[in-house]
Amino acid sequence: MLKAVKVYLETMGCQMNALDSELVGSLLRQSGMELTADPKAADVLLYNTCSVRQHAEEKVHSRLGWACQRKADGKAIVIGVLGCMAQRLGKDLLSRYAGVDLVCGPGQLARLPELLATARDQKQLAVDEVSRASRPRAGKMPATHRSAAVRQGEQEDDIAAGPALDRLYDGRDVLSTHLPGQAYVRIMHGCDHFCSFCIVPFVRGRQESRSPQSIYQECRRLADAGVTQVTLLGQTVNSYSHRPEGGSETRLADLLERLSDIAGLRRLRFVTGYPTDFDDRLLQAMRDLPKVCEFLHVPAQSGSDRMLRAMNRHYTRDEYDQLIDRARSIVPGICIAGDFIVGFPGESEEDHQASADLIRRTRYRNSYIFKYSPRPGTLSAKRLGDDVPEAQKKRRNGELLAVQAQVSLAGNAALIGSNLEVLVEGVSRRSGKQPKGPAAGQVQLIGRSRGDHIVVFDGPKDLAGQYVNVRIESATALTLAGKREA
Ligand code: SAH
Ligand code: F3S
Repeated sequence: MLKAVKVYLETMGCQMNALDSELVGSLLRQSGMELTADPKAADVLLYNTCSVRQHAEEKVHSRLGWACQRKADGKAIVIGVLGCMAQRLGKDLLSRYAGVDLVCGPGQLARLPELLATARDQKQLAVDEVSRASRPRAGKMPATHRSAAVRQGEQEDDIAAGPALDRLYDGRDVLSTHLPGQAYVRIMHGCDHFCSFCIVPFVRGRQESRSPQSIYQECRRLADAGVTQVTLLGQTVNSYSHRPEGGSETRLADLLERLSDIAGLRRLRFVTGYPTDFDDRLLQAMRDLPKVCEFLHVPAQSGSDRMLRAMNRHYTRDEYDQLIDRARSIVPGICIAGDFIVGFPGESEEDHQASADLIRRTRYRNSYIFKYSPRPGTLSAKRLGDDVPEAQKKRRNGELLAVQAQVSLAGNAALIGSNLEVLVEGVSRRSGKQPKGPAAGQVQLIGRSRGDHIVVFDGPKDLAGQYVNVRIESATALTLAGKREA
């Protein structure tokens, strides 16, 4: 019997990439390949990359340097770059790295088995031709996902990416989700918002919503295989809108209602929200549908109107505040997470303080805080100088993290004494390292509440994927700790 080809697949970046890698992993296994966690044991090295900040790309360059050196040293390996950086740099990656055999953008991943089969003999370039035009006119879907998936030098063919990607979902191996009992399900591709700093619309294309039927079927298959928590993914998931020819529109609230019917599913989540697309109907659906978790990830990016305008975010600080107030009044106990960028071009000390103030006002459960990184081709990189010195960015980043840590600690401390339902993810990385370790036969487990709080507690190893009730006894800014209730 032929030995199976061993593939090492490393994932950088966001949940979208984690999902893409999972789907790619299924596809490769179904094509007879084997996945390995050891890059040195692999015949094929694949890097699923992120372009959202320069730092993410630097990591990929360092991996490719290592892989290409191995190849130059005589190892017979195939090297592939997948994902956003593959889409962004395309053939430049092939010319920069003699050892790279395959470059495949996120819209072309369904073709990976075929591409790999020929990559050893001929370099393969498979990227979408993503339109660089700004927002499409309302109601008109531009042909942005035309495939430019061509062998070097060949002509563009005409496969649309949408149906090709459906192949990935249909073939999904439901038994290998990222955590026991949990799954990501993509409900839309791309983004139409064109925030001036963001590379995503250029590498993931325009917004396209999947049909509710195919999402429903995928969730049902997952639930039948034992998944109880589904997280719906989209760059701006609350902009989800699907309208068949002559039919009526399905929005996120409708989708949540439909998916709530699936027996076996206990929790539904969705990320990431864009601040302008939260109508009351969606917030009411969160309140009224018991399976929908009381959690919103709704990035503000800045607390200053001047910055929001320069970032091409389509809301003001005041409108954002109103959204948060509405969410808190409609959905009791809602937990909110956010993203901020520090050091955007022209950001003054006053603008920075406005962001700190927004963190205090919103009382985020947590915030992801990023230093501005100019991305080639984006509006802010083209038009605005990266004029906040690195040292200032670093300081502002530290300051916002400190403000958020205070807010998180206060929020977490308020939960001491309460009882939370926790979906167990597995053994915590710190298990066995605590000063007073768990009792014999037990380990420290980690899981998440409905509000997405990280909760640790002691229990038997085999609880991963189960729901338990935990009485909270102590809190830090990052985690809650407690005891499992019988
Ligand atoms: N809607 C997407 C956003 C993708 S980018 C989502 O699924 O979360 C994730 C975050 O990275 C953004 O919210 C923003 O805070 C940050 N980010 C994007 N481009 C950036 C850049 N050029 N520099 C620094 N941070 C950036
Ligand atoms: Fe990026 Fe803004 Fe879309 S952050 S993903 S362009 S909403």
